[in-house]
Amino acid sequence: MRLETKHVLSVAQFDRRFLLALFDRADEFAALPPREIAPVARGAIMATLFYEPSTRTRLSFEAAMTRLGGSVISAEYAASTSSAAKGESIEDTARVVAGYADLVVIRHPVAGSVARAASVVDIPVINAGDGANEHPTQALIDLYTIWRECGRIDGLTIALVGDLRFGRAARSLARLLTQTVGTKLYLVAPPVTRMDALLVEELRSAGLQVEETGDLEAIAPELDVLYQTRIQRERFSDPEEYAAACGRFVIDERLMQALARHAIVLHPLPRVGEIDPAIDSDPRAAYFRQARNGVPLRMALIEWVLAPHPVGMLSTNGHRHA
Ligand code: ASP
Ligand code: CP
Repeated sequence: MRLETKHVLSVAQFDRRFLLALFDRADEFAALPPREIAPVARGAIMATLFYEPSTRTRLSFEAAMTRLGGSVISAEYAASTSSAAKGESIEDTARVVAGYADLVVIRHPVAGSVARAASVVDIPVINAGDGANEHPTQALIDLYTIWRECGRIDGLTIALVGDLRFGRAARSLARLLTQTVGTKLYLVAPPVTRMDALLVEELRSAGLQVEETGDLEAIAPELDVLYQTRIQRERFSDPEEYAAACGRFVIDERLMQALARHAIVLHPLPRVGEIDPAIDSDPRAAYFRQARNGVPLRMALIEWVLAPHPVGMLSTNGHRHA
């Protein structure tokens, strides 16, 4: 029997049925005391290769793997301490790491590089962020958090705010929202970080009702979810352009007054000024709960990735890398 290698490269590979099953499983993990978690990853090794800084993604993947009874080997500063610094290609590094581990999680500054790594190995590769392209597991956490906090994923009014040009988390979430029904999506960005027209068109043709606006205060009362993002300084070649994008939309107490009582504020984090810490104690500020959700969601994902799956039986929408 031939088995499928289950890479996680883009949110495009997930369908609605898979997402809801994953969220149910993540909820089960979240509810279990650690000692009662079945060690489904016992004997397995996860390698984490991070060519860009990270707090949440790397540590929550490592925590998730550890909670499942598995082990972790890590190149935390892969750009400077792995042989990438000597000029080794991502493909060669992946081929070598595939001999040491059963699963590899990669963050890299170049869009498409994680998919390149996945194309040369037969162990699962998980994209932990590739340049300004995608951050699929963050989007899974975001939609899982929406599901938990709002009780549903359909019929919601959601605003994505901030850097919709370079922000891979927001871009992946926007794509993932095409799996929901009756969603109204507002895109709120300074002129230099607007979402590219091609992606906006992709979202519209997939059935999302998308509206671009520069007036966050005006739409705030309509929102169920306000998803704020950081302006991605590391992706700008022109510091003046970066400065022009900063400080335009800040979530503060005044904005919170305009927001409905049931609404939630999300942010993939880290934040650097776009959310006033004064609102942290507001129950609608859900971003630290969102970060915590990273562990159970990634446990559910690791369990799915490691479970043997015969070719043709994947419950995702057919994205294959056999
Ligand atoms: N941590 C997220 C990412 O790596 C968001 C951010 O850095 O602003 O994409
Ligand atoms: N949300 C997120 O990806 O955080 P890190 O960059 O700290 O991993």
